[in-house]
Amino acid sequence: MVDLLDRKLVFVTGKGGVGKTTVAAALALLASQRGRRVLACEVDAKGNLADFFQTKPTSFTPREVQPGLFAMSMDTEASLYEYLKLQLRLPVVARLGPLARAFEFVATAAPGVKEILTVGKLVWEVRERHYDIVVVDAAATGHIVGQLRAPQAINEVVQVGLVRQQTEWMLEILDDPASTGLCIVATPEEMPVNETIELADRLRTETQVDLAAIVVNRVLPELFGRGEEEVFERLREPAMTAALTTAIDGPSDVVLEAARLAVTLRRTRAGHLDRLRAGVDPSVPMLYVPELFSRSHGLRATSQVAEALAAELGT
Ligand SMILES: Nc1ncnc2c1ncn2[C@@H]1O[C@H](COP(=O)(O)OP(=O)(O)OP(=O)(O)O)[C@@H](O)[C@H]1O
Ligand SMILES: [Mg+2]
Repeated sequence: MVDLLDRKLVFVTGKGGVGKTTVAAALALLASQRGRRVLACEVDAKGNLADFFQTKPTSFTPREVQPGLFAMSMDTEASLYEYLKLQLRLPVVARLGPLARAFEFVATAAPGVKEILTVGKLVWEVRERHYDIVVVDAAATGHIVGQLRAPQAINEVVQVGLVRQQTEWMLEILDDPASTGLCIVATPEEMPVNETIELADRLRTETQVDLAAIVVNRVLPELFGRGEEEVFERLREPAMTAALTTAIDGPSDVVLEAARLAVTLRRTRAGHLDRLRAGVDPSVPMLYVPELFSRSHGLRATSQVAEALAAELGT
């Protein structure tokens, strides 16, 4: 099993809102702190990756946002222009006006076009060795397989030599576990766990891309052990509650209810975690990131998550 940060291309996915961008930003930051030259790319053009580094919005042209860490946002049309300039040596972009309209038409009509331009750009950055590692804040669980399968899908449909040449080198990088890995983020909740198990299955049956790690995000601390729980139960007896309320001159039942909620929440989450562990290949590393109780979610939170991931990766 190749370590996550030793790969050259890491896609971060997961159900909406589970912490994909948080984890992608933290992995990128961690890699840069380890001396790597890093590109962090968000696939969603309307994404908020820049917020996690507390910097101005990112664009298609990568910008250094931390020492050794460059950030960009995917733009499939810009990716097409870049490709045409590089591959076909088309001169001025100004001449591409009609092409842009054609592109919109083709991209809307033919599935896989936007995906191939997205994945193609990322894999190209890897092939050209512009960076040591490219971390992608990728599509959510529902769309990631389509994105990863784009070169394969196009390869299966288009038999033309030129296109095949273009997709084959992409597949070489994507299908090589030493180069590429997928990282699924999940919170210990019902739906994120279900989607993670389903995606791990689809990944194995529909792609050759390696599942590099599962990040379990927002793990709650164990506040109370068995002993304390018994104390709480005793305190819940009516006589005790009445005495407590008199002693503190305030509603003790609210405090006890909060303690019970903390225990229940942690237990339910532990149940989902067990399900997750049982539902995926045990050789896939699970990295645990704690719930952060801070209010702000900028660079400081990104550093904290990076620290947690570093401890989990043993780096
Ligand atoms: N470990 C954590 N502790 C506390 N809050 C967290 C943690 N991880 C993420 N969050 C918060 O959860 C929210 C969603 O996180 P994030 O934006 O990374 O998720 P996402 O999966 O990228 O969402 P989307 O699907 O909308 O792109 C943010 O407000 C983020 O700060
Ligand atoms: Mg996001």
